[in-house]
Amino acid sequence: MATAALSLEQAPPISVPLRFFLTAPLFGITAALVLLALGTGAWTTRWSAGALAVTHLMTLGFLAMVMIGALMQMLPVVAGAPVARVRAVSRVVHVLLSLGTLALAGGFLSGKVPVLRLALVLLALAFIVFIGAAAGSLVRARAAAVTVRGMRYSVTALAVTVCMGLLLGSGLAWHWPLAVPELTALHLFWGLLGWVGLLVIGVGFQVVPMFQTTPPYPRIMTSHLTRLIFVTLLLWSPAKWFAGHSLLVHDSAATLASLLGLGYALFAAATLALQRRRRREMPDITVRFWRIGMASLLAGAVLGWAGLWESKAASTSLEFTWGILAIFGFGVSVINGMLYKIVPFLVWVHLQANPGGRGKLPNMKEIVPDRRAGIQFWLHLSALLLLAGAAWMPRLLAYPAAVALGSSNLFLWANLTGAYRLYARILASGISR
Ligand code: HEM
Repeated sequence: MATAALSLEQAPPISVPLRFFLTAPLFGITAALVLLALGTGAWTTRWSAGALAVTHLMTLGFLAMVMIGALMQMLPVVAGAPVARVRAVSRVVHVLLSLGTLALAGGFLSGKVPVLRLALVLLALAFIVFIGAAAGSLVRARAAAVTVRGMRYSVTALAVTVCMGLLLGSGLAWHWPLAVPELTALHLFWGLLGWVGLLVIGVGFQVVPMFQTTPPYPRIMTSHLTRLIFVTLLLWSPAKWFAGHSLLVHDSAATLASLLGLGYALFAAATLALQRRRRREMPDITVRFWRIGMASLLAGAVLGWAGLWESKAASTSLEFTWGILAIFGFGVSVINGMLYKIVPFLVWVHLQANPGGRGKLPNMKEIVPDRRAGIQFWLHLSALLLLAGAAWMPRLLAYPAAVALGSSNLFLWANLTGAYRLYARILASGISR
């Protein structure tokens, strides 16, 4: 594995990223329990309390949880800019984000204003601490690196998403009159196509060739794609906000949204093409997760171009399908796949840094066995298909989808904690080579 571009000696303690990685599947399980408890009730409309709770258990509890842990790890290693007081920052952010996400989901589900207010305070604090720490480090980072640029755009997009989320939440908690549909559109685009998408692309440019042994992405793409997507998001936002004012503005917003879809479709197509030219043809679990992620991205872009979820006739089922493709099909698949590279790699690197003793340094395949990751892959794929199916046939598929989602996350959690237990066991007995 080519890790020459990484400065591993600057890596934070393993507990820093792992506390986020091991918590994320627990939120996936919680989302599944909510879906089980609500049955078809969660699928009535995307604005239902259940849909909003599950959306945030996944976007904040799973996606943001892993992405924040990964950034704490990557900022020193990839960008050469460690986060100041990383142990304290990670502890505080982890607790605030976990409690804040639970309170937000609880606030949506119960409709209790004090719970919602508590959630907003906890989440505001979590993101002030995290974005402040990450921004401090990104300002010092090596400016030229493509991945650093992706991280900068992504963290900026997170700040925008959080501000809009807090505003939307305050509207509910303090009964402010807000333009909810427009604000929600901005919030979800900045969240999914800014924060999540730009980090995946920026990091993917570096880690796909490295971890999946593919040729590099085309230079023209690594140099310009994240910037173009970010600028397009910037231009799209006022157009979307004022879309109701004139046909011209409305059409400009639609054109810019199509360009965003094009940018993501190009990334997905390039990734799939590179994966076909892998140097090692050995089956690889991360490659399989990324294929699902890229296929979902392409499908989401096609739905977007068809304008289906924007038209008045757009059914609830289509809206749900787009959300499921973007959040679960793209975001969760890619991140789940990456966890199977990052966690064994971290365990291995940290064990190697602690030599002396009787235990044997495991190889990567022993840290999370392929068979176990493979079972989880099939559970994840089933969950994706069943969730997408439940969007159309909730009576038939709402419960199977919830069970598949819960099982996949339970298995993921077992696989990741298994890796950590192996690490702790070997460390306790010491390592020999
Ligand atoms: C401080 C953090 C956040 C808060 C307080 C928050 C709050 C909200 C609120 C209140 C709504 C519903 C608007 C309404 O119906 O009135 C909403 C919608 C949404 N949020 Fe967030 N949000 C946060 C972070 C995020 C993040 C990071 C993402 C994505 C990565 C995200 C994705 C979404 C999506 C996709 C919807 C739309 C759901 C739908 O249309 O069905 N949110 N958010």
